[in-house]
Amino acid sequence: MSATNTPVRNILALAGDGIGPEVMAGARKVMSWLESKGRAKFNVTDSLVGGASYDAHGTPLTDETLAQAQKADAVLLACIGGYKWDQLDYDKRPERGLLRLRKEMQLFANLRPAIVQPALASASTLKEDLVSGLDIMIVRELTGGVYFGEPRGIFDLPGGGRRGINTQVYTTDEIKRVGRVAFELARKRGNRLCSVEKANVMESGVLWREEITALGKAEFPDVELSHMYADNCAMQIVRRPKQFDVIVTDNLFGDLLSDLASMLTGSIGMLPSASLGAADANGRQAALYEPVHGSAPDIAGQGIANPLAMILSVAMMMRYSFNQGAEADLIEKAVRNVLAAGIRTGDIVEPGQKAIGTDAMADAVVAELGKLA
Ligand code: IPM
Ligand code: MG
Repeated sequence: MSATNTPVRNILALAGDGIGPEVMAGARKVMSWLESKGRAKFNVTDSLVGGASYDAHGTPLTDETLAQAQKADAVLLACIGGYKWDQLDYDKRPERGLLRLRKEMQLFANLRPAIVQPALASASTLKEDLVSGLDIMIVRELTGGVYFGEPRGIFDLPGGGRRGINTQVYTTDEIKRVGRVAFELARKRGNRLCSVEKANVMESGVLWREEITALGKAEFPDVELSHMYADNCAMQIVRRPKQFDVIVTDNLFGDLLSDLASMLTGSIGMLPSASLGAADANGRQAALYEPVHGSAPDIAGQGIANPLAMILSVAMMMRYSFNQGAEADLIEKAVRNVLAAGIRTGDIVEPGQKAIGTDAMADAVVAELGKLA
């Protein structure tokens, strides 16, 4: 892509809480490098989400920020939450800001790749031969299920005591649209899809299994489809993770299984994610990119957080929102090379290596990009 016809991408950057601003700064360095080489043009707007938004505006997501997110070509979000806001009412908590963004932008498909970087295979808590070369993709349904189901709430019981309730609910359409994303991804990868639910206990799981099976037969007969109960899947992910290619599952199981899978890779500080909506008639697709990790309040402000998940989220943005696979590949390769050179932040440091800080890690990636380009 030549510099003259490079389109301007409108990005909303939401640094959020905790280590968010630090890792976002790392991502911005990589974006600036892309711009300096004429490989992209970004028009970045910064705004607040989570606890930072609550402190400034009394709500974890303002209507203005939501409107900006809906207009942007892509949203980059770092992470939200912290002890400071733990005692707030439920609807004011940082998490509500993120959940509202997902829901209102209709980001129903959450792609969470778990890739073991060759240089980090020994940093995994699992035996090296179990994880080396691992490359799985978890597709998590993100706008339905128990996260949003009604009725929900905590209610007083007449005789004293209370009743807490959440509802796990899925419809045919919700299952099919996320299923399609997963089948299509499988086609571009190893052509195998494992659908995960608990059809042995839950009606929503029975429906999930039936709809995914029907979808496979009707539209993706070439993709090898299997089914697994979620508890067994959790076990299989640590027992023999390389049996999986793409996993598709609901909101809650996807939340759990993606944290689990992240630890195969050495550190949750390494994993990016993409949350995608449906494409409209013009091919425009709502998209939000964020690391899988949280805001790590225990190390916030110290400049030691790992910015690689945030940087790899930029790579996913280039690939999925802007169809610039070459730039995505380049960023991913730079990260691989930096790790191979033994450059590490504290979360992935190994004996004999020295841990560097967030800025230094981002600078190392940019320097490597310079060498590769
Ligand atoms: C995630 C997080 C969120 C979730 C929290 C912060 C609301 O754990 O993105 O996995 O539960 O979805
Ligand atoms: Mg989670």
